[in-house]
Amino acid sequence: MSLKQKTLDLQKRMASAVMGGGEKAIEKQVAMGKLPARERINAILDTDTFHEYDLFVAHQARGFDMEKKSLNADGVITGTGKIMKHSVCIFAQDFTVAGGSLGLAHARKITKIMDQAMKLCVPIIGINDSGGARIQEGVNSLAGYGEIFYRNTLASGFIPQISVILGPCAGGAVYSPALTDFVFVVEKVSKMFITGPEVIKTVLGEEISMEELGGAKVHAEITGNAHFYATSEQECFEQIKKLITFIPFNNKKKADPYPSKPPKTKYILEEIMPADASQPYDMRDIIKCVVDDSDFFEVQKHWAGNIVIGFARLNGETVGFVANQPLVLAGVLDVDSSDKAARFVRFCDSFNIPLVTFVDLPGYLPGIDQEHAGVIRHGAKMLYSYSEATVPKVTIILRKAYGGGYIAMNSRHLGADFVFAWPSAEIAVMGPEGAANIIFRNEISNAPDPDQLRKDKVEEYKEKFANPYVAAAHGYIDAVIEPNESRSYLINSLEIAKNKSESRPTKKHGIPPF
Ligand code: HXC
Repeated sequence: MSLKQKTLDLQKRMASAVMGGGEKAIEKQVAMGKLPARERINAILDTDTFHEYDLFVAHQARGFDMEKKSLNADGVITGTGKIMKHSVCIFAQDFTVAGGSLGLAHARKITKIMDQAMKLCVPIIGINDSGGARIQEGVNSLAGYGEIFYRNTLASGFIPQISVILGPCAGGAVYSPALTDFVFVVEKVSKMFITGPEVIKTVLGEEISMEELGGAKVHAEITGNAHFYATSEQECFEQIKKLITFIPFNNKKKADPYPSKPPKTKYILEEIMPADASQPYDMRDIIKCVVDDSDFFEVQKHWAGNIVIGFARLNGETVGFVANQPLVLAGVLDVDSSDKAARFVRFCDSFNIPLVTFVDLPGYLPGIDQEHAGVIRHGAKMLYSYSEATVPKVTIILRKAYGGGYIAMNSRHLGADFVFAWPSAEIAVMGPEGAANIIFRNEISNAPDPDQLRKDKVEEYKEKFANPYVAAAHGYIDAVIEPNESRSYLINSLEIAKNKSESRPTKKHGIPPF
């Protein structure tokens, strides 16, 4: 055969291999409202940047008639490409080929592209759409999962890892996304669960749909497994592209700078915050007044709404925001919000993204539910991750900073580089009402008019402690600033902290309160 003939032969082989499970299976996939795997890859990547590898990898499974089956690409497409000009490694499971099930060759393709991503120091993106362990391949499938989880763990904190759930992700398969940094889900398309509806029916006798059990909304709103929720695959791909612009290639690099833009939102900050300290406001409005182009890219928007986390830019540089949300539960810290913020702080710290913390919270949420759900253990994660973080850390106390909440929200005592407070800041062990009731209990109960004395004592306490000046007198905050100076103080502090170098005691690793 001449080279020309061999080239034609290659083209023929490729044309057949890229057909996945064949036309009918692809039609079925599309009828379910799902894009075929290659189209997904091309929709995420910049035009014509995808280079596929291992198209001709073939399974070696025997038994259950497997020797008769040639599974195209073994049900997973792997390669490299670019997103918004950023190089990435990517894989997408192809449900049209044996339900995207994971056998040994399929797993080896994934672990190979993960190894490449780690060697090339670029992010890895995995699109999951699979019936799970390939039943015919038995323990080899389990081995494959184990080898993926192992690499997820090695890659954690070294390169960004992104999981996109675009179909079923069942059984042990869910643990790879759970080990990655960001999980994207799409309404009606994504399904994630450990045990499916049939097992639940058999074992527990309960009827439940896949959607109710582990649909996109469940993971975006209830479990917190998902970080981004979209109503269509296309919207999901736009979210992935946006995320990529905010994060670096790896833990040795910084995210790409962008041209600095002033905030679009022109509110006066004093007018967003209500005069009455018991009234809520939307913390996102404050963030948007401060950041470049008023562009705040929120993470886990639909879960644990009492804390807001996300990426933005200040003077063109990526920063990670952690801020209490007075609109939800007055912005208290609880089990879920502590988990949410603590993990985000660790992501930012791993990937050289400075942290900005906005504080307005009455403390940790009291009550038996929270105590029994482990608010001590979960709340401790906040202390651990802020204390451990060595990236530049700047805090602004907007209003309430009470009790443990004051300490946990990146206080000076946990290593903040700069702490500022608005004149509205109230820094105290607890709120004035609670404090007056405790320390003046006897005086109040013995008074001729207890209610009047209580009011007087609350005022007295407020006057003394519910302000930023006691903390300022101790040097725990660096400056009391006017709200409209917040952006310039943040930019200036982060600029000065650019060359920050802080080390921690040498150890194998710490033991966070997981
Ligand atoms: C082999 C599989 C498969 C699997 C699906 N297929 N899952 N083949 N191993 N795990 C095949 C089907 O036989 C079918 O082949 C094709 O893929 C499409 O599947 P359908 O069932 O027709 O699709 P659909 O009706 O959309 O249902 C999708 C599904 C269902 C809900 C995912 O297929 C299903 O329940 N699959 C089994 C899920 C599961 O229990 N997996 C094991 C989990 S345990 P044909 O040839 O007919 O087209 C696990 C342990 C991992 O993963 C532990 C790691 C630590």
